[in-house]
Amino acid sequence: MSHSQLYPLEINSATGEPFFRLPSPNDNIIITPPRAKDEQAVVPILNDPGVYQWLEGPPFPYTPEHAASWIPLIVNAAKAVLDELKEEECVNPGGPLKAVGDCPVRMIREVKKDGTDVYIGDIGFRRCLYEDVLDPKERKEVIAANDRKEVGDPTICWSIGNYLAPSHHGRGIMSMAFGLLLGAWAIPRMKVRSMRGYTFVGNTGSVRVFEKNGYILKGIVDNGKVVRGEKKLLNVLYWNYQESKSS
Ligand SMILES: CC(C)(COP(=O)(O)OP(=O)(O)OC[C@H]1O[C@@H](n2cnc3c(N)ncnc32)[C@H](O)[C@@H]1OP(=O)(O)O)[C@@H](O)C(=O)NCCC(=O)NCCS
Repeated sequence: MSHSQLYPLEINSATGEPFFRLPSPNDNIIITPPRAKDEQAVVPILNDPGVYQWLEGPPFPYTPEHAASWIPLIVNAAKAVLDELKEEECVNPGGPLKAVGDCPVRMIREVKKDGTDVYIGDIGFRRCLYEDVLDPKERKEVIAANDRKEVGDPTICWSIGNYLAPSHHGRGIMSMAFGLLLGAWAIPRMKVRSMRGYTFVGNTGSVRVFEKNGYILKGIVDNGKVVRGEKKLLNVLYWNYQESKSS
């Protein structure tokens, strides 16, 4: 049976926006592409100590100007994947599902009773930064070699970045969101077969999200990282498609 190139994303019949819905009991949570108006919603969450203390990437304090540079980048990245798939549908109707280099949905939203939704977090895939390769020259080389690999190459090593508003922590939302994106999109559509995860030591919640999705904790590394003036040790976790299937 042939599927739309957006399979298995659902489509919002009112807006045409593709989305995934989390399973029960979190079925009021959806994951959609970024939207231009997310610029306002990300700022308070990324300034919350329950979030920023565990993140390295986003600047702190996180300003509306930071959001104004970041959100258009991810809106365009998601649009590029969706456009590529729509184009494939036209050029090769009924053809096999095309492998792509990213997941077009990443923004986690809570759907309210009146049908409106509220932005509550983000989960995005990126190619691995090899934080556990300690020699700087070797690290630069493995990152460059991984970045050069073609879309759909199963030897690409991936990582994720994620956060959730503290109002929604501890309800199983991120564990489910990651499991859903992995099984429904990353494995079948991006051919993700290998991933590494890194968290600041002490970030038990994040380690558990990885472990619940089949990662194995390999140990702790000190790669000299200093974030906002504080030295950070990193938990290192590995995920492998074959091992995750047999566990
Ligand atoms: C890490 C984070 C994404 C987890 O999201 P979440 O939806 O709250 O996680 P879940 O509810 O799916 O919980 C997953 C597991 O972690 C545990 N957990 C969650 N928060 C925890 C905490 N603060 N301390 C200890 N355990 C915690 C849960 O009990 C659950 O484990 P269990 O099933 O064994 O009981 C969220 O806490 C967050 O946004 N933190 C700040 C940003 C961040 O750390 N991002 C990741 C950077 S590497």
